[in-house]
Amino acid sequence: AYMHQIMGLSVLEKQLKETLQLDNIIIVPGNSDEQERVKQEMGKACATFLRENIEEAGTIAVTGGTTIAAVAEMMTPFDKASCLFVPARGGIGEKEENQANTIAAKMARQAKGDYRLLYVPDPLSESSYRTMIEEPAVIDILQIIQGSDIVLHGIGDAITMAKRRKTSNEIIGKLQQEEAVSEAFGYYFNDAGEVVHKVKTIGLHLDDLTGSSHSVITVAGGRSKARAITSYLKQGRSDLLITDEAAAETILRDN
Ligand code: BG6
Repeated sequence: AYMHQIMGLSVLEKQLKETLQLDNIIIVPGNSDEQERVKQEMGKACATFLRENIEEAGTIAVTGGTTIAAVAEMMTPFDKASCLFVPARGGIGEKEENQANTIAAKMARQAKGDYRLLYVPDPLSESSYRTMIEEPAVIDILQIIQGSDIVLHGIGDAITMAKRRKTSNEIIGKLQQEEAVSEAFGYYFNDAGEVVHKVKTIGLHLDDLTGSSHSVITVAGGRSKARAITSYLKQGRSDLLITDEAAAETILRDN
């Protein structure tokens, strides 16, 4: 049964690579919507990938969310180097345990690396944004974030994320009207992968990802995120997707 499952997943991986037009996909068995253990398995797959593939010291920028928190949980020191962990962006309305800062610090602890944090008021007004980006300490950490070697991020269902972040009814209305279906690091996307809204904060911008200077690792699973994953990957760049069986099957069924 075990071999059957492994072979089944590799067929699924092959099909999903074609559908999503991605070169690298890892699928873990199960549905993380239903079993917390499956989220931990995705976290473990990501931690193992990093442990085995990081060749030299570098910088890893991370987003928040429970999935990336599960990666932090499963992280162990890398085989060949230790890294610097930074949040990809400033606060975007998450609870403390789901914040990128918290996760970056935790990853550093688990992987025996270093971390630098980014303190930005959350939410950030237009005028404080302009003031903050002039601060030398902020400029310093922003350079590190923008120069990161790896970006590790989650994907969420748009409305689920907006509600979790206590987004105003006005913005939720806008997201519904614009038919937002996915969210990643504070950007909201429609089915075509177009940005329909973004949370004002500092750090990595979506455009920063399209260049080839960072490797992008995406971790997202669960049947409920199938549409969100497809939407984000329409235009968002990813070098490796780590997902679960339920999301993979649903994406293949619907596309
Ligand atoms: C957020 C990330 O914190 O977590 C997003 O910035 C992502 O990129 C979201 O959409 C996913 O959260 P979770 O809890 O479903 O992993």
